[in-house]
Amino acid sequence: MDFKELLEKRRSIRNFEDTPVGVELVMEMLKETTLAPTASNAQPCNFIIVMDRAVIKRISDDSKANLLKEFAVNPHDRLRMYVDVLKDEAFNVFYNAPCLVLVIGDKGVATLDFDTALTVAYLMFAATSRGLGTCWINLGASVRDPDLLRELGVPDECRIVAPIILGYPKEVPMASARHDARVLKVIPGK
Ligand SMILES: Cc1cc2nc3c(=O)[nH]c(=O)nc-3n(C[C@H](O)[C@H](O)[C@H](O)COP(=O)(O)O)c2cc1C
Repeated sequence: MDFKELLEKRRSIRNFEDTPVGVELVMEMLKETTLAPTASNAQPCNFIIVMDRAVIKRISDDSKANLLKEFAVNPHDRLRMYVDVLKDEAFNVFYNAPCLVLVIGDKGVATLDFDTALTVAYLMFAATSRGLGTCWINLGASVRDPDLLRELGVPDECRIVAPIILGYPKEVPMASARHDARVLKVIPGK
């Protein structure tokens, strides 16, 4: 797969085959993510791999409940448009994926969000190159239940930045519409 094809085939996948993803394969891809650039080469990302669908569902349920509580306090929350879907008990924010990778990092790292985004991009490309699909699920990041966080092994000083679902796609959708790159100005060299 050349680079252009990799870019085109990397889609957000929300419909997975039942086929499990081997933990060794996930480890192999996570090793590739360590090549991602991070500020000061701090490499702040840690990973929790969840293959148990019952645990994945509990993470979904806790995150949904917490988001709904937050909307009640802050009606202008930018995720408020998802309120109806979050109220749907049957909706699993992780789309019943066979594998969930939680990318977590120390709350004190100022560049954690940027570093994580690049690390996740590497994970997405590592997965796509192997015929796997991924999707970043921000709706699944609002886990607060202390018992669940402890069970997941999230240290107190860390926060969940990126929940990434992984699995073999039932199908890879066409790229959704993109506008042209908005280049506001080109200042030519002299
Ligand atoms: C930071 C981030 C958070 C996202 N959160 C969600 C989410 O909670 N649920 C979901 O279904 N998709 C989520 N997505 C996927 C986007 O909807 C998707 O990337 C976008 O529609 C473009 O489609 P594509 O990834 O197939 O190119 C998220 C993507 C990013 C980068």
